[in-house]
Amino acid sequence: MKSKITKLSINGFEHIVLVNPDETLVFTLRERLNFTGTKKCCDEGTCGSCTILVDGIPVLGCLTPTVRCVGKTIITIEGISSKEDLHPVQKYLVKNGGLQCGFCTPGVVMTAIPFLDEHPNANREKIKEGLSGNLCRCTGYKKIIDAVENAGKELKV
Ligand code: FES
Ligand code: FES
Repeated sequence: MKSKITKLSINGFEHIVLVNPDETLVFTLRERLNFTGTKKCCDEGTCGSCTILVDGIPVLGCLTPTVRCVGKTIITIEGISSKEDLHPVQKYLVKNGGLQCGFCTPGVVMTAIPFLDEHPNANREKIKEGLSGNLCRCTGYKKIIDAVENAGKELKV
């Protein structure tokens, strides 16, 4: 299969990149464009670490063919905030100790932000459900749920 020159909109900028027809979005982002904030762990759709927003919807980058994202708006963790101005989800993950090695964190953030947009009044049970596709081997989840709950409260003010 031949590589094709492809135009992708990522974090508000257009990127021209050579893409193989069968390659995944997480591969293109990390290996071709150096967006290494998106993590790849299981590479088979079970851990959530590669979560990216495509047209505002969280998708698994390891299962999403890059060619299907042409003409769509891609947002990665690098497009969420600047270092000085963290999104409330990021701020509370730090404040509440919701990360240790940090490998799952970008995926958690990219899942939690659209989840809170859609469910501003979510209780803990609903948050647990919303984040059930994001695996973390370090934190035991409680602090991640605390962080998302606190971010939700702040976003409502
Ligand atoms: S790397 Fe994509 S779900 Fe695990
Ligand atoms: S903080 Fe290490 S996997 Fe979640």
